Parts: sequence; C-alpha cells; structure tokens
Amino acid sequence: GEAITVADLAQKLAMKGGDVVKALFKMGVMATINQTIDHDTAVLVTEELGHKAVSATGNDAESELLAQLQQAQGEKLPRPPVVTIMGHVDHGKTSLLDYIRRTKVAAGEAGGITQHIGAYHVTTPKGVISFLDTPGHAAFAQMRQRGAKLTDIVVLVVAADDGVMPQTVEAIQHARAANVPIIVAINKIDKSGADPSRVKNDLLAHDVVVEEFGGDVQAVELSAKTGQGVDDLLDAISVQAEILDLRAVKDGPATGVVIESALDKGRGPVATVLVQQGTLHKGDYLVCGIQYGRVRALFDETGRQVQSAGPSIPVQVLGLSGVPDAGDDFVVVEDERLAKDVAQQRDAKRRELRLVAKAGNRMEDIMAQM
Ligand code: GTP
Ligand code: MG
Repeated sequence: GEAITVADLAQKLAMKGGDVVKALFKMGVMATINQTIDHDTAVLVTEELGHKAVSATGNDAESELLAQLQQAQGEKLPRPPVVTIMGHVDHGKTSLLDYIRRTKVAAGEAGGITQHIGAYHVTTPKGVISFLDTPGHAAFAQMRQRGAKLTDIVVLVVAADDGVMPQTVEAIQHARAANVPIIVAINKIDKSGADPSRVKNDLLAHDVVVEEFGGDVQAVELSAKTGQGVDDLLDAISVQAEILDLRAVKDGPATGVVIESALDKGRGPVATVLVQQGTLHKGDYLVCGIQYGRVRALFDETGRQVQSAGPSIPVQVLGLSGVPDAGDDFVVVEDERLAKDVAQQRDAKRRELRLVAKAGNRMEDIMAQM
C-alpha cells in the first residue's frame, strides 16, 4: 500500500488534522500533520476513528496526556546528531562501531561490568554524537514504519576491496525513503585490494554523488582496523549535523523511543531508550508503549548510573511494569495514576485493534470462499 501524509488522510476522511494526530497518538504513533504514515497505520487509524465516531467517549487519559505534552513546549536548543551505521554484510559496520566505542567512550567504573546497550554517545572536540548500534536494515525499516524518525544521519559503510553491493544499494534506498542524509565511509583502505575511486564511481549509478565529483555527499576513506580516517568521519558527521541544524526542547518532560528491551533476571524489565525531547530524570513517571512505571535507575552505555539524560542521549531505564517493544514511544507524565491509566487504555486499545484485524482477516477468508 501507499504511504500518505497525515494531512492528506485527514482530508480524505473529512476530519480535522489534529483529530487524526490525536488518534495516531492513542495508537502509540507520534506523528505531526506533515509526516507520512504507512498504509497499514493509515488503515488502523481510520478504523480507530470510525470506531470512535460511534462510541462517543468523554475526556480520557490520553487526552489528559496530550494536554500535558502540549503545555510542555519550550525553546528548541541545538542537540547532538543520532547516527545509524548501515552497509553490506562484512563491510565493517561492527568493527567501525567497536573502534569508535573503544577509543571514544569513557570506560565504566572500576569493577563495573561494561553493559552492552544498543546505542552509545561519544564526545568529540566538535561535540557529542550518538550512535545506534542496531544497524539491521529490517530494524531500521520497522522503526521508520512505526513513524519513529530516530536517525538524523546514515553512515554508509562500503568496503574498498569489495565495492557497492546489494545491501549497500538497499541501505541507500532506506536512507532516501527516510529522507536522511548519507555520509559514505569507504572502509578497509588498509587492504591491498582497496580501490576507493571505484567505490565513488559505482555510487554515481545510485545517485550518490560525493563532493569530489561535485555532489553534496561527504565521503571519508578509513580503516576500522587501524583507525586511520576515523576522526575524519567524526568531523564529517559534525559538519553534516551543523547543516541539519538539529534542535530539541531541552528542559521539561522527556519523550523518546525504545531502541531495545529485555527482561533481566535480577533487574526486571530493562529498556534502552533514546531521549528525543526534554530530559529524563531518575524518579520520573513514564508511559512506554503499553507499559508504565517510575524510573528506578538510569544507566549510560558504560554501565554507570546517571541522574538524567537529555535530547539525543541513549540511556537504560529500570522500573517499568513490563517489557516494552522496540519502537514504542515513551512519555514522561506528572503522576503514576495517569501513567497507569494511559498504559491500560493502550493495552485495551491494542487488543481491540487486534480483534478488528482478526475480524478483517476472517471476512477476507469468507469472501475468498464465496
Ligand atoms: P555483518 O554484521 O555481518 O553485516 O558485518 P559487518 O559489516 O559488521 O562487518 P564486521 O565489522 O564484522 O567486519 C567483517 C570483517 O572485516 C571482519 O573480519 C573484520 O575484522 C574485517 N574488517 C572490518 N573493517 C576492516 C578494515 O578496515 N580493514 C581490514 N583489513 N579488515 C576489516
Ligand atoms: Mg556486524
């Protein structure tokens, strides 16, 4: 199916855009009026709105939550870029992330076990950069489908001894579809068969025109093995971030997205989240998909406890009632009562939507047999 903007969908339904935004929000999809939602989400929200029109309800927890969020608008200040590394199998994505992590992320506290979390941030002379460590293309596509725009910049890793391969092209397409700028990291230049020029030439066929050829795509030649050129890549990211003029509200209640989650035997549900707006504090009440809770502890990527995390900073959260899904939004709310109400309403709503979908499938089965 086709993707559609929220505004266009609202027009088709002869409804106010704000009402569609609200309904999307209730499904856990945070989208603005100008954003594009995928076909399935459009169908679900249409069903939701149709259903709503019949079953008139008054003020519910979601409306209260929305009102709280709208109150919390503030001045937008510069924020760090969030970077995802993509590329073909074996071209060196993990090696590059590992090299950056090893050399740039401060070590954890003495005796502490360094936690592996799905994201980390590094401090460079030009500022902070956050990396998402879940570069699977499928995960990227799934996040995008859920309306979550997590990534500001895609670093496209291409091995200089192998050149542009099918998943390189796939990554270019994902970045394009998400409207995210690409920086090309031509990796493995330490190898004898390395041919960076061929990579740049091959990319032309996919409309990725590097600066050297008069285009606007930065390309950096590097080796994730020796570390040569890695600082140039970090510089290139900072330059691109400056062009994008990334901003977020820094103070006020945090909102963001779950990057990964798990049930830890000792610690209970653990969610790694990326804060997108506001600042998340220890002690905050939050709703996270259909889960809720009070932040019992926050950890950074080195396993160190932190008191808070601001925009673009990934952090591990303890204290949720259950394990949320990757891609779920989280929102800080004023009190536990509201957190619980919203989570329970969403849970009920999800069950309902699942029933609607099931009923739909059944109808299709019946029709097919006629
Ligand atoms: P997948 O996760 O399987 O898609 O691979 P990847 O893109 O994460 O590649 P990975 O980092 O696992 O690297 C693949 C192989 O290439 C490993 O054997 C690395 O040691 C090697 N490698 C990565 N970068 C470099 C480099 O700059 N130079 C050399 N010589 N080898 C490299
Ligand atoms: Mg890998």
